[in-house]
Formats: sequence, structure tokens, C-alpha cells
Amino acid sequence: MPQQHRPDALWWRDAVIYQVYPRSFADGDGDGTGDLTGLRARLPYLAGLGVDALWVTPWYASPMADGGYDVADYRRIDPAFGTLEQAEQVIADARALGIRTIVDVVPNHVSDQHAWFRAALAAAPGSPERARFWFHPGTGPNGDTMPTHWRSDFAGSTWTRTTEPDGTPGEWYLHLFTPQQPDLNWSNPDVVAEHLDILRFWFDRGAAGIRIDSAALLVKDPALPEVPLNPGPGAHPHVDRDELHDIYRGWRAVADSYPDTRVLVGEVWLADPERFARFLRPDEMHTAFNFDFMARPWQAAALRESIDSTLAAHASVGAPPTWVLSNHDVTRPVTRYGRADTGFSFAAKRFGTPTDLDLGRRRARAAALLAAALPGPWYVYQGEELGLPEVEDLPPEVLQDPMHFRSGGADPGRDGCRVPLPWSGTAAPYGFSPPDATHEPWLPQPADWGALTVEAEEADPRSMLHLYREAIRVRHGEPSLGDGPLSWLWSSPDVLAFARGDVTCVVNLGAAAVELPPHTHVLLSSEPLESGRLPRDTAAWLRTAPPVVV
Ligand code: NOJ
Repeated sequence: MPQQHRPDALWWRDAVIYQVYPRSFADGDGDGTGDLTGLRARLPYLAGLGVDALWVTPWYASPMADGGYDVADYRRIDPAFGTLEQAEQVIADARALGIRTIVDVVPNHVSDQHAWFRAALAAAPGSPERARFWFHPGTGPNGDTMPTHWRSDFAGSTWTRTTEPDGTPGEWYLHLFTPQQPDLNWSNPDVVAEHLDILRFWFDRGAAGIRIDSAALLVKDPALPEVPLNPGPGAHPHVDRDELHDIYRGWRAVADSYPDTRVLVGEVWLADPERFARFLRPDEMHTAFNFDFMARPWQAAALRESIDSTLAAHASVGAPPTWVLSNHDVTRPVTRYGRADTGFSFAAKRFGTPTDLDLGRRRARAAALLAAALPGPWYVYQGEELGLPEVEDLPPEVLQDPMHFRSGGADPGRDGCRVPLPWSGTAAPYGFSPPDATHEPWLPQPADWGALTVEAEEADPRSMLHLYREAIRVRHGEPSLGDGPLSWLWSSPDVLAFARGDVTCVVNLGAAAVELPPHTHVLLSSEPLESGRLPRDTAAWLRTAPPVVV
């Protein structure tokens, strides 16, 4: 149910956006891998949940060296998922249900199976084919030393050496992620033109927006210096370089050339809120993921600080902030919030971290009401609405994530948040695959997920699914939720309380129940109140008198 009070062209300023990881959403053909037939069939579920838009992670032809973020052809759907025609049908069917679709474009790198990279390997050093990538001779005797010692975001080095047709070692090529994901050279005009065409390709097929993968990494310092100890703003050789902004201005011009609003959503991991906000200037991206909030521990002061710095940085450019508790890269909130360290960092992930899932679930419910009450779009990652925990005991032989392997096995990787969704029934595949499926789900589902299926949660008014549905329903019905101003009422070391017009959100992160501020009634609470008081690790939305404007 779209918000009636907001002009349609501004849908992106307060949409509830559901992230679909197609491989794990719903399997229509029974091969154990989610696909577009499954996604189409489940669109009514998403309409019932009330979301305004989908963000679909890459569905393109890919060898899946990095879960589809290694794209071999941006204009073809991977056969495991379906066909281009089916993708168009997903976009059209969703739109008919009032749901827009955001597709994921991966501009920093391609698959090593992409036609351009294969041509580059076949071509000679110095050729135009190689100029689209970062091929470089090594240093030292015989060029045996890689050109830089930049560290990969996936651990390990960022250069791989090629082999010449006669078997001798050749040039090196750059890959900020795996060797199967060679980086493109964004100073090459072919690269720029190709992406403008990819954007038009998907906009022409009805995509309402583009999620931009690794958006702050595209540009590299051509001098290839080592990374300085404390690089100043814009001085890192491959992160957040100033030249990026012209690229996104070009993308924005393409988006703005369509009569209805097409949006750009950046995946921008940057610690500095001011540098982050530069990507959201009026002629660049519309929004970007706010990972700072997601990574903060379950602690009032830390969350308050993140909210304040986020709001201030976004106000400076007039863009709405986004609120995200999870995605396909990070530990699921129910698990994260049940630990001694409730923050998130990739470097801290380890097997065997003690977790209290009941506590985590309670906090994740409160966190959802907090995130959903803040101004701007709210992202929900599939399974978050079911309160799925991270699956941390996957058998080692099924693990697929390169982050796990490239860390030498120390990092559990991201497979645990990508386990196929449970839809119904009491045993795997829990309705993920049809009854006549020929294969097990591509990652095994836990034996104790029977109470976490959509079917079971629909029947349980205290389920996470009910809470999410209610939160979305109430949010859509309240003109002051979504985009707009926020005013803090008070905050103590344990409590956050802010007004959004005549709706007040109160979150108790402390150990004891607290009094609620004056209100006429409770719109929604993440746990039952205790004699009118807000219990620990609980959030509530209250109807209050509108703030007095003087
Ligand atoms: C960010 C994506 O979310 C992640 O899944 C992927 O591995 C990297 N970018 C590289 O494309």
C-alpha cells in the first residue's frame, strides 16, 4: 500500500525496500536454486508484506565465484535463474502489484569469463582490450613482484599474474576482490560508455532504480602508489577518489532522462559522513546505504550518535538517509544482537561466538521499529522479516563464500545469511523447492526452522513477520513517518525517544522497564508492555499530541 500523502515521483524518499537474494528466495523448478519462476510466484507474499520496492541482487549470467557479483554478461540472466523475458515479467508483475524493482549493477569489476576480459587475456600487453582493465608489468627481477601491495577486501593480495601463450609469466592484473573479478579501468572511455548503455538497458525494461555495487571503489590512482598510513580525504589510491563524482553525474543524467523517477542507490562503505554525503549531492545518487547505523552496537549513545551524524550529513545535501539492519553480506541481526559484541565488523567474524538468540530476537524486534521510524527509506533483507538467525554450523564442504576461503578459513564467510528461505512445512526444503524437487537446497536449511516458516509465522500473531507487517502498515498510514523531520524528546544512557509529528518512537535499551512519555495510545510495540511501562530491549510507537511549533 503506497503512501497516499507523498507524490509518486518521490517514492524513493521513504519507500520500504525488500532485498531479494534470488538464489535463496524461492526455487520454482526444483533444482535447489532459487529462480525467477519462484520469485514471480511469491510476489503476492511481498505485496502482502506491504513493501514498495524490491532490490534484486545480481541475476545476470555468472560463474558464481562471488554469488553473482562476478558478472559475465550484464544483459543476460543466468540460466540457473531463468531468462531475460522472465526478468521483464518479474518487473512488470511486481509493478502491477504496486512494487518497483531496483536491479543491481556491478561496475567495479566483471567476471573473468566476461567477453572483455577473455579478449584482454588473448590480446597483447598494451592492446586496447587490455586498456579496459588494470594490466601492469610486475616489478623486481623478471617482474615477479606484484605492482602494489594493496590488500583485497576479501583478504589476500589484489594482483594475479597472467601466463603468456608460450607458457611464460606475463603481466599482472588488478582485482580488489577475487582473481575471478578483474577490476575495470574507469579512465577508459569504453568502460564509461558501456555502463551508460547497461543502465539504459535495464531502465528500458522497467527497472525503477539501480543499486550500485562497491560504488566508492571504481577509480584508481593511475600512478599505483602504495596505500599511505593515514590517507587524507580523496587521497587513498583506490577508495573514495574525487573523480568518482563525475561518473555518477553521468549516471544521474541517464536516470533523469526518463519521464518517471529512476533512482541510483549506492553501496558506499565510508566512515566519514561528509565524504559519504558528497555522493548524494543533487546531481549524483539519490540515496546510499547507511552502514554506519547497521554496524553500531545495541547501545543508546552509539545509536544516537550515528543517527545524529547521519541526519546532519544528509541534511547538508538534501538527501534522505537510508536505514538498514541487514543484507546478504552481514551477520543476521537476531544473531548479532544476541552477542557480547553487538556491533558488526567483517574483521571480527569468527566461528563459535557465544550467542543468546532469545535476547537477540528481542533486540532485533526493537531495532526494526527503531529503523522503521527514522526518516528515509527502510531496507529489509529477505528472511529478516522472519527473524532468521545466522546459520553458523553449515558443513564445511558446502561453504561457498570466497571471504571464508581467502581468510584461510578464519572468517566464517557470508553463507550463513544466505541460506534458502523457509516458506512452509516442518522439514527442509520448507517449501523453498516444489514437492517434486530433484535437488536439495543449494545450502542446507537447519532442522529447527519449522517455527520460522512464513506459514508458521503467519499463524502466530507474536511472530516477527506480524511485527514487520504491522510496522509497514502503520508506517504507510502515518503521514509523519517515512520522509520528514525528527525531533529528539529525551535520551538517557538507556533510552532513545524521538517525535515524528504526532508519532513518538521510544526504545528502551536498558535492563529495567521505563515509563512511557504522555500519549493517547500505543500504535505498535515490539513486546507487550509491562503495566504500561516499556520493558527492556523493547521499542514502541505512540500516538502523541503534535509538537508545539513556536
Ligand atoms: C558488495 C556486495 O554486496 C558483495 O556481496 C560483493 O561480494 C562485493 N560487493 C563485491 O562485488
